[in-house]
Amino acid sequence: MRLRTFTVLAYMRYLVKSGSRHSVHSPFVYTLVDQVLRNKDEHPSFAPIRNLRKKLLRKSQMIEITDFGAGARRNSYAFRIESVGSIVRNSSINERYGRILFRLVEYFKPLTLIELGSSVGLSTLFMAMASPSARVFTIEGCTAKSAQAASNFESLKVSNISQYIGRFDIVLPDLIGEVGKLDFAFIDGNHTYTATLTNFELLLKNAHNDTVFVFDDIHWSAGMEKAWNEITEHEGVTVSIDLFRMGIVFLKKELSRQHFVIRI
Ligand SMILES: C[S@@+](CC[C@H](N)C(=O)[O-])C[C@H]1O[C@@H](n2cnc3c(N)ncnc32)[C@H](O)[C@@H]1O
Repeated sequence: MRLRTFTVLAYMRYLVKSGSRHSVHSPFVYTLVDQVLRNKDEHPSFAPIRNLRKKLLRKSQMIEITDFGAGARRNSYAFRIESVGSIVRNSSINERYGRILFRLVEYFKPLTLIELGSSVGLSTLFMAMASPSARVFTIEGCTAKSAQAASNFESLKVSNISQYIGRFDIVLPDLIGEVGKLDFAFIDGNHTYTATLTNFELLLKNAHNDTVFVFDDIHWSAGMEKAWNEITEHEGVTVSIDLFRMGIVFLKKELSRQHFVIRI
């Protein structure tokens, strides 16, 4: 995530609002923070992903990027040339948050996962390796990034990932119909207010009481922050957790409605 003025100010607001796990009175959230979000233990799956990330950071191969997201600004898409190393440095998940994704999947044991925004596949790998028996469906609009992701999945011999290439608004409606019940969603692409809410509403169609939603870059821009605030107030959402970079949302009806801002 590039450092932007909006994000710096948002981080200062987050520091003022946030509390540690000791300020949390919900047993569900306290356990989640204690056992999952703050879990710093090593896992055998982390080293191969870490090594792959290091290798990709050094990769100077230039690829042609098609951007259908916030980077396209007012156009429907934009082209640019970028090295694989720079893509990983600027937009792939870092190890800290990759581990959080991994631990969330390991803890909640979702069987069907959808990711919006695979890029070169690092976050996809964290989720797929956390639960080899789960099915991970990942969508990426840029063909060249998707090809890089495919080779990364192959290099780590991870086979529970299905890749879809195309714009979210075109691929997601059909994919939702195909996959049926959705247990876990990671939304990490098209960081605009409208797209984030539209994609959330679409994914909600197949969600159930125990579905977990994870949003990346919730304070990346004013639009993303507005989308996140509206998601936390959505009638179907009971508990939301703001970790600054990521936001986690639960629909569990048995939990009392609460919004947490937590430092981990
Ligand atoms: C932040 S990157 C994803 C990083 C990846 N999840 C990770 O952490 O390793 C967002 C990705 O979403 C893709 N994307 C953005 N808007 C899109 C859209 N409307 N349709 C399809 N893909 C899109 C971009 O091409 C980009 O690769």
